[in-house]
Amino acid sequence: MAILVTGGAGYIGSHTCVELINAGYDVVVLDNLSNSSEKSLERVEALTGKKPVFYKGDILDRDILNKVFAENKIDACIHFAGLKAVGESVAKPWEYYENNIAGTLTLVDVMRQNGCKNIIFSSSATVYGNPAQIPITEECPKGQCTNPYGWTKSMLEQILSDMQKADNEWNVILLRYFNPIGAHPSGTMGENPNGIPNNLMPYITQVAVGKLPELGIFGDDYDTPDGTGVRDYIHVVDLADGHVKALKKIEENAGLCIYNLGTGVGYSVLDIVKNFEKANDIKIPYQIKPRRAGDVATCYSDATKAKEELGWTAKYGIEDMCRDSWNWQKNNPNGYES
Ligand code: NAD
Ligand code: UFG
Repeated sequence: MAILVTGGAGYIGSHTCVELINAGYDVVVLDNLSNSSEKSLERVEALTGKKPVFYKGDILDRDILNKVFAENKIDACIHFAGLKAVGESVAKPWEYYENNIAGTLTLVDVMRQNGCKNIIFSSSATVYGNPAQIPITEECPKGQCTNPYGWTKSMLEQILSDMQKADNEWNVILLRYFNPIGAHPSGTMGENPNGIPNNLMPYITQVAVGKLPELGIFGDDYDTPDGTGVRDYIHVVDLADGHVKALKKIEENAGLCIYNLGTGVGYSVLDIVKNFEKANDIKIPYQIKPRRAGDVATCYSDATKAKEELGWTAKYGIEDMCRDSWNWQKNNPNGYES
């Protein structure tokens, strides 16, 4: 079976390519490289012995999409391509709605014209807004997003769900990721953020490697055990495996399905700092800063549904996540440009 992986050169996409190839799928990647490097696909090849078929191009471009479908017999699409920087989305809402929403509309239109109606979509726990209950089940109502990026995820969930309801030949799986961190255990693939990282783990690893002087912890007065924000961190290889399991579900005619992909365990910012220090024997200097606008106190999943219906559970623990994040950063201090 051939799988189209949009955004397959990116952080989660490249790790998913490895798991897909290892599971026996043929992989075709479409990526405009706006936030990634083609080198990640060379690393996929080094790990699996197989290089994904690669098209450098945009999901907004019908011609390249038609070319991909004409030249490959695509059975399903795993759709990662999208812009994902929360702060940037506040400054550039039009660009986010254009890229993520118009891009996805173009993609699914070309898919259906080519008779491919199977899609797995990268959604996010951000659609729950300030969650109505903890741990968060899939039945928990969607909430108010605090930024245009989050709204693109929420709106695309709605669009894809409506399409599936109107035409039950579609199989649509919405995967709501919690907080992906970690890197391939080989140390050859990982997250490659542009500029100063916004997310916690890449910030910590850049402090550890000496690129940044100290971590700022955004608030220690939340209603959590130690006052810092609590999240459900999940190893990127576990997340990648969740997509392989979701593909199996598609092969059984899924219809419309929604799954949380998280571990079901919450860690605070201070827990992450302490675990990173212990796993890698490196001190992370930090300073408490004011809260960051839009952050919620606590966000972690109930991951039971994915376990029961996909047979998927996270295998890696927090120590693995901290070790693998550091292993990637120390071997590749400048990401794929090292
Ligand atoms: P990433 O930026 O590393 O990967 C996204 C890839 O899509 C990049 O390679 C980029 O070049 C490509 N891309 C962007 N716009 C494109 C377009 N118009 N046409 C073709 N390619 C395009 O991000 P990631 O962390 O791997 O995230 C993958 C997906 O998962 C995204 O949709 C993201 O919103 C979603 N997600 C990520 C997180 C997270 O914390 N990393 C959490 C929840 C959901
Ligand atoms: N944090 C700090 N200092 C930093 C960075 C983060 O203290 O320098 C704290 C945050 O305040 C939060 C926690 O670390 O309490 C995690 O923050 P991240 O920015 O790593 O992750 P978020 O939970 O804010 O959001 C991430 C992605 C979103 C996605 C969401 C749920 O950035 O796109 O997970 O999947 F929607």
